[in-house]
Amino acid sequence: MNLVPSFDAAPAYAAPMRFFLTAPAFAVAAAALLAWSGPAALASRWTPAALALTHLVALGFLAMVMAGAMLQFVSVFTGRRLPGGDALAALVHAALTLGTPALAVGFLLGSAGWIRGGALVLGAALAAFIAACAWRLARARSRDSSLVAIGHALVSFAVTVALGVTLAVALGAGAAFPLATLTDAHAVWGAAGWVLGLVSAVALRVVPMFQVTPPYPRAIERGFAPAMFAALGVWTALELGGAPAWTRGTLESLAGAGAALFAAATLVLLAKRKRRATDATIAFLQVGMASLFAASLLWIGARAAPDIAASHAYPSALGALIFVGFGMSVTTGMLYRIVPFLTWLHQSRSAPRAGGAPAPRVLSGVRHAWLHAAGTLLLALAPLWPEILARAAAVALACSAAALAWQLARYPLALRAASRAASSDRP
Ligand code: HEM
Repeated sequence: MNLVPSFDAAPAYAAPMRFFLTAPAFAVAAAALLAWSGPAALASRWTPAALALTHLVALGFLAMVMAGAMLQFVSVFTGRRLPGGDALAALVHAALTLGTPALAVGFLLGSAGWIRGGALVLGAALAAFIAACAWRLARARSRDSSLVAIGHALVSFAVTVALGVTLAVALGAGAAFPLATLTDAHAVWGAAGWVLGLVSAVALRVVPMFQVTPPYPRAIERGFAPAMFAALGVWTALELGGAPAWTRGTLESLAGAGAALFAAATLVLLAKRKRRATDATIAFLQVGMASLFAASLLWIGARAAPDIAASHAYPSALGALIFVGFGMSVTTGMLYRIVPFLTWLHQSRSAPRAGGAPAPRVLSGVRHAWLHAAGTLLLALAPLWPEILARAAAVALACSAAALAWQLARYPLALRAASRAASSDRP
């Protein structure tokens, strides 16, 4: 059964918008932290600043945007609001807004109390949110492949959060846990299962529809999300069961090749699109998919050449390409499309005759995408020349985050101006 949107079930305008408007503040905070700590942040994957930066981006930006988008998407495409409705949305938003800085401060200070406090706030609210989305998805009448893929991404998010909370408690308690194995599993489920899973589920549907491209090859459309999800399950079993390194290495290389194929296929489809003009969504998709392609090659290269895997630059470069280059780019491109649409929907429902919603683009979103691409490249190369590049990357990424904040804030500001003008016109 095909997906049919039901906008009557959409949450209030403010519910997803507060997530979208908060996310750029965390991107600015991450850039400020990088500028403040400079080269020291990138000395290894375990530096306090690197862990704080990872979570400011993963939770403060990516989870924030994705929670807002899921709230809208799951309600509209299952035809029913989430259990808990706007109150649940407000609770999750508050937990992400308070819990993420608490976790980051905990990493920076090396404080088990802050880490545990942040983890518990985040864990409780995200568990409620995941359960509400899962409840709706499980009861959806449609069994469309995108809803199934979103379900897989949601399970991956649940695993990531559960492992994150376990790690936080274990760090604080000083328990004899297999910390390195669990941290790897946490990072892989977060990056490959959740970020890549959710983005690919959405891209498989919206790229051909909105960008008017040929469809994805059937094997990718039907097989990519389930294959990646199954690979993650097998990988976890091999990792926890202490299987020989070559079995895990082979599976990791195959999964990397799958991700590279998906990125390349999306880039080829975008090059064949019927609408030739490049807008912000397309430019950010291109930057995101090029980053995913580069990250996949780096990942496969590290499996083939142990020197790459052992280099201190490898995890930082991989994290920069996946979280900043791929995750942030694709979600930013998505915001350029969703926020004007939600504003238009709100405006046309609440005051059909009062002025239109602001035009989708005033500043060039394409130039914004290039700025973000430059920030990603500088960050990915910064571990090699940290003295020169770390702070340059921070400046470029801060400018990119500020540009996004401005682009998004224009919409509620224009609505407010329109409603003031309408009330002053009234006799
Ligand atoms: C409730 C949410 C979360 C909590 C409580 C949490 C907690 C933690 C903890 C305690 C560590 C280990 C730090 C150490 O060993 O010193 C860690 C590492 C990590 N986390 Fe999370 N995390 C959460 C969500 C996420 C999400 C959503 C992602 C990504 C999508 C993520 C990505 C990572 C990565 C990549 C690392 C490893 C850093 C590295 O190896 O370079 N975390 N997390």
